[in-house]
Amino acid sequence: MPVHEDNILVLDFGSQYTQLIARRVREFSVYSEILPFNASLEEIRAFGPKGIILSGGPSSVYAEGAPLPDPGVFELGVPVLGICYGMQLITRHFGGEVGAAASREFGRAEVTVDRPAGLFDTLGRSTTVWMSHGDRIERAPEGFVPIAHTDNAPVAAFAHEGRRVFGLQFHPEVVHTPEGTTMLENFAFGVCGVKPTWTMASFVETETERIRETAGDAGVICALSGGVDSSVAAVLVNRAIGERLTCIFVDNGLLRAGEAERVVATFQHMGLKLVHVDASKRFLSRLAGVIDPEAKRKIIGNTFIDVFHDEAVKLEGVRFLVQGTLYPDVIESVSFKGPSATIKTHHNVGGLPEDLKFSLIEPFRELFKDEVRAIGRELGVPHEIITRQPFPGPGLAIRVLGEVTPERVALLQRADAIVLEEVKAAGLYESIWQSFAVLLPVQTVGVMGDERTYESVIVLRAVHSVDGMTADWVHLPYDLLGAISNRIINEVRGVNRVCYDISSKPPSTIEWE
Ligand code: XMP
Repeated sequence: MPVHEDNILVLDFGSQYTQLIARRVREFSVYSEILPFNASLEEIRAFGPKGIILSGGPSSVYAEGAPLPDPGVFELGVPVLGICYGMQLITRHFGGEVGAAASREFGRAEVTVDRPAGLFDTLGRSTTVWMSHGDRIERAPEGFVPIAHTDNAPVAAFAHEGRRVFGLQFHPEVVHTPEGTTMLENFAFGVCGVKPTWTMASFVETETERIRETAGDAGVICALSGGVDSSVAAVLVNRAIGERLTCIFVDNGLLRAGEAERVVATFQHMGLKLVHVDASKRFLSRLAGVIDPEAKRKIIGNTFIDVFHDEAVKLEGVRFLVQGTLYPDVIESVSFKGPSATIKTHHNVGGLPEDLKFSLIEPFRELFKDEVRAIGRELGVPHEIITRQPFPGPGLAIRVLGEVTPERVALLQRADAIVLEEVKAAGLYESIWQSFAVLLPVQTVGVMGDERTYESVIVLRAVHSVDGMTADWVHLPYDLLGAISNRIINEVRGVNRVCYDISSKPPSTIEWE
């Protein structure tokens, strides 16, 4: 039995936009999940899809080693929509012809709609789309009718009405295709006949049930950081199994100033069973002398798990560990869902040891942060938790560049507290994805009073983002930048210079390590 009966399955062929497809579909209240391109037919059947979308991908369908789906996908009697590479796969499978386009097409294009019905129901004669392809369809397979064209692509979309198989050469999932959502809705509602049943309330209901079933009589612990994801996960699991959940809050010595006290107070107030472990010495001693960012992440991830093991044996019958892992954590850590490249090892994914003694419960593994915030609201999680800016699992260790010593962490905590206070006072905290301070491993010359100083540099970072996958630096008001800089240099001993980071992601990342 599928978790959600009205669903659309996305098969990932490695496009940077794959996760957006699932997200767009969920936005119109239809459940959607992603499986790797080579998922077996049994896995696909077990999911019980009402429709299947084949994503784009960087390969050419005739290239050696090109990712191909199980051909049985086309014989399930389920409607299939191929996007870009997905369309080329359909062409290859059904005997059409794909060729290198005379000129590659990247960016906006005007498409002429030849059949304003089916996928293009309610659309006008012409619509703007986002193209990103080197190959194009030279000849549609037998039985497939071209339903749209551009100057460059005579078959920009096709349809086989009898088989209910469709192809789009462009990307309906990106915002640059303004009518893309209508096309996906036409596919889901019109062709596949699904109903819009996926709401936050229904997610909470089905996940509560699923967690109850998974956990059975066993004890469960939750790695609670106090951030949005793990807090909402804890409240959800608590709703499912109540007292059998114990939240473990680990103070790793790498938190913001005053954070440990705040988290403990909030969750005790909410009535969750909470164990507070002060493991700061253990973390900091293991980090001594370590400079490499990936090494820091791995050490912190492993130490977390060690602490959990130690705490879990003190409790009875614990078999599960809850984590607030999100889709971007998964996709940026491992080539898990499909052939996308590893960017950084996020501690709660890549840092897990092979001999992990618990099974994981990760209710948000397919979701984005704004979706988790909506679930939190549904569950009545306090506003100040839901609106918190993301804070990385490895904490200040990846913002203290170079060696992580207790003194350097304390210095960064003081600077970070000032950034937070000033951004909040300016009324900008909730509209910014993240705003924080970074301590650099260099010293610069300054002058204070009549004295020469040779002290540390703090960098300010503030970014806008929707899901952490891409980000733009925020144009913070000069007055605010000035106030933060003055306060840090005056109030934080050991700092004599403040800089502002004006890089976007990509090519930079949000955190410096
Ligand atoms: P980057 O630096 O990769 O960050 O652009 C993207 C988002 O993820 C957060 N981040 C992490 N979160 N464990 C986490 O739980 C981690 O190891 C980790 N590394 C980065 C980062 O703060 C940003 O929101």
